[in-house]
Amino acid sequence: MATMQDEHHTPTPFPFSITITTLPGLETVLADELLQLGIKPIQVGSRAVRCSGDLSVVYRLNLVVRTGLRVLWEVHRAIVSSNQDLYREAKGIPWESFIDPRNTVSVAFTSSHLDWISPKYAPLLVKDALVDRFSQRFGKRPSVDTRSPTLRIHLHIEGNEATFSVDTSGESLHRRGYRTEKTEAPLSEVLAAGILKLTGWHPGVPLYDPMCGSGTFLVEAGLLALGTPPGFARPIFPFQKWKNFDPKLYERIHREEERRSLSTAGNSKSFEIYGSDKDPHAIHIARRNLERAGLGDTVTLRVAEFGQYIPTGFTEKGGFLVMNPPYGKRLQDPSITALYRSIGDTLKQRYPGSQAWIFSANPEALKQIGLRPFKKYALKNGPLDCKLVGFNLVSGAYRSRS
Ligand SMILES: C[S@@+](CC[C@H](N)C(=O)[O-])C[C@H]1O[C@@H](n2cnc3c(N)ncnc32)[C@H](O)[C@@H]1O
Repeated sequence: MATMQDEHHTPTPFPFSITITTLPGLETVLADELLQLGIKPIQVGSRAVRCSGDLSVVYRLNLVVRTGLRVLWEVHRAIVSSNQDLYREAKGIPWESFIDPRNTVSVAFTSSHLDWISPKYAPLLVKDALVDRFSQRFGKRPSVDTRSPTLRIHLHIEGNEATFSVDTSGESLHRRGYRTEKTEAPLSEVLAAGILKLTGWHPGVPLYDPMCGSGTFLVEAGLLALGTPPGFARPIFPFQKWKNFDPKLYERIHREEERRSLSTAGNSKSFEIYGSDKDPHAIHIARRNLERAGLGDTVTLRVAEFGQYIPTGFTEKGGFLVMNPPYGKRLQDPSITALYRSIGDTLKQRYPGSQAWIFSANPEALKQIGLRPFKKYALKNGPLDCKLVGFNLVSGAYRSRS
């Protein structure tokens, strides 16, 4: 029987395959983010981007990526066509280089074109294979913890190809840590960061969210402007508890990103980010979320009905309005239709010269804006199909409502 001391692991020195998962519609912005970090994407898939790299890339991605949900480190890939194949391949993986028998595990599963094994049974088989490997080698076995395991394994089966990965992020990366208080229907932080990137906004241009709710767009824009890595607020990543964790390498990556962030913050002379909402409670929460994100005095907040507040110089500088109005419970809700109609009128009358981006799950209401969009993106907010539409608020762009 092997002892845990026998299992002397040094970090894998060669590149391995890494998959970063994301929300539908954000795959290309995530790929762009990687390119900006000097990491070449090798495949842009559905809800995921793949790249190759070593542990330093895994650590860096977890710390800095804004539009990714999880960083999956592929540990094995095999062709499998039976339960026996899957069990054998899973059992052959040296899981003991990640955890010891006192730790806990769980197995998440995704698949497509699967007809030879049930989606319930596949992850159980992988868990059994891991447990048997530990029992045979060490006489002890890790237990299962689905909520907060030391090692979360991710099994993906596509036809007959099984990919075994370890989830290095644990909790989804959208949980940045600053939004402990929410208003109704807040956006995911990853979705908000992705929307900002899709609009083409950059910190040299004033940004205003006139229906800011808990302030998600404002915080994500502020973090971007200051170059603050979103993962810096995370208390701990799962990989820091693994046996193959390389603390020196992690500290070096952390220091590099800290320096990069300080230099971005030093260079970002002054940026203009504004938020307002008609609900004073929402503004109170937005203020506290901004404070928790270290952006307390950098964003201007007001309680205001949309159209009542125009930040000084906003239209002259071609500012960007980015907003996520209520969707209504039904597509044809008259009060929502009226709200979107008034949003269109207010944009035309009060903000000429600026660019407006509206994110909504209500296509009928969006038609009531009465402006010709110059750009449309299909996204999702949870299960809801959504559109992000961009309008240039210049004379001549207006058309009558259908
Ligand atoms: C869907 S929530 C926005 C959520 C926000 N994006 C977040 O992540 O927390 C819509 C917000 O619009 C605000 N709102 C609705 N009608 C408004 C109006 N006419 N003027 C200003 N704010 C309005 C609501 O108070 C609510 O906070």
